[in-house]
Amino acid sequence: MTFQLAKQEGASKAELYAGLQSQLRSLLEGERDFIANAANFSALLYHSLPDLNWSGFYLSKGEELVLGPFQGKPACMRIAMGQGVCGTAAQQRQTILVDNVHDFPGHIACDSASNSEIVVPLIKHERLLGVLDLDSPSFARFDEEDARGLNELVEIFIDSTSLESKL
Ligand code: SME
Repeated sequence: MTFQLAKQEGASKAELYAGLQSQLRSLLEGERDFIANAANFSALLYHSLPDLNWSGFYLSKGEELVLGPFQGKPACMRIAMGQGVCGTAAQQRQTILVDNVHDFPGHIACDSASNSEIVVPLIKHERLLGVLDLDSPSFARFDEEDARGLNELVEIFIDSTSLESKL
């Protein structure tokens, strides 16, 4: 399989996320393995969204989040529920946008290049599977349009992926 990343230079955010929806659908077509799909989803985001330095998953295991497939520098491996941006988004089951991570109480610094962050929880049948985490070296890189676009992509990922072992 050769997957061609679509060039979307000059596209608006709405166009970018619309393009990513169709790319994600075709990328995951015919495969339902959780790790394979999560790995390719994080790679698609990392190479398609501008200005990221980290993109990946933390997955629920008991009362902790454990590092999953990602792109970027090696990161911390376990995050307690309620800790950092990821643990807070997981506990509140809400997308969290952080314009300046240095102002977020308890922020866990994995890569000193990160200045802003967005974390989207993965929820299926009211079960928290984990979170999708994106970091940027720019301040205030993420806005409500990113939150909406990423939540829609997460829905496609959840619908396209076998979650039996996670539920
Ligand atoms: N900054 C995150 C930790 C994970 S890394 O950014 C990859 C947090 O505060 O939860």
